[in-house]
Amino acid sequence: MSANPPLRHLLEVDDLSAVELARILDLAELTDPPPVLAGSGGVLLFEKPSARTRTSMEMAIDQLGGHPVSLSGAEVGIDTRETAEDLGRLMSGYGRVIGGRVFEHHKLERMASVASVPVVNLLSDDAHPVQTLADLLTLRQCFGRLDGLTVTYVGDANNVARSLAIGCGLVGAAFRISSPPGYRFDDTSTDRIRSAGTDLTVVDEPTEAASGADAIYTDAWYSMGQEEEKRIRQEAFARWRVDESLMDAAGDGAVFLHCLPAHRGDEATDGVLDGPRSRIWPQAHNRMHSARGLLLWLAELSTDQDPERGGTS
Ligand code: CP
Ligand code: NVA
Repeated sequence: MSANPPLRHLLEVDDLSAVELARILDLAELTDPPPVLAGSGGVLLFEKPSARTRTSMEMAIDQLGGHPVSLSGAEVGIDTRETAEDLGRLMSGYGRVIGGRVFEHHKLERMASVASVPVVNLLSDDAHPVQTLADLLTLRQCFGRLDGLTVTYVGDANNVARSLAIGCGLVGAAFRISSPPGYRFDDTSTDRIRSAGTDLTVVDEPTEAASGADAIYTDAWYSMGQEEEKRIRQEAFARWRVDESLMDAAGDGAVFLHCLPAHRGDEATDGVLDGPRSRIWPQAHNRMHSARGLLLWLAELSTDQDPERGGTS
């Protein structure tokens, strides 16, 4: 009997190959998915608030026949009540997947280092890979392809931007970003994005970055945990607001995306968020479909790896 391949986790988009990412997007669109989580489910830990991620993951688990259990950070106390490693060991026995939304990314790495089921990053300060899955699914539905698209991100070079930039590399889309000085990708993120094969361009002026883009993407100027920086960031980012004139600078067929929640009037105007080029609601609803695709893909892997679940290895 051959040795089982190592357990797979999704802590950042480049944990996937291009082929695997495409497979997840295909599975996301599967009608009538099999109940691969019947009799089991997943455990979801949230150190930060969530509307989309919690609801979409819970619904996706339910749609696959499983039961979701969501716990707040205050309940489980990652590294205060017990260590991230002990929680990884514990939750591995209760479900087929562990999801974690944390401040420090390394908590997920430590959980994953000991878990015996896949650990999925539901947002950390560094990355938001499950958001990227929905973003790419939405773009594929808008344009019928991903290869050759140009995605322009205007705003904070944050967790959402980093994962999206990496994802663009895996699917052959170019990624342009315009951010104020001091809020750009650091060297580590830039290296990681380029290592994923991303055609990354950093542009000073938002209008220049938008020119000819297929999609304009933005996110909040201040992320969860940065609320105290709200005023200083609102000043720094004032020229990086996505308004109708910035959308006009993009191509005629350009769409507008935002991971949400939006701080309306900050990073994007109501006119853009609610306008004809906005795809923010299909994008948000795709969080559920892409989460289901991810869970189906993980189930395919575990079936391959576990003879008791019908695998061959
Ligand atoms: N986009 C996203 O992750 O939303 P929530 O914070 O509401 O989960
Ligand atoms: N960058 C944001 C994304 C929210 C979904 C944050 O981390 O708060």
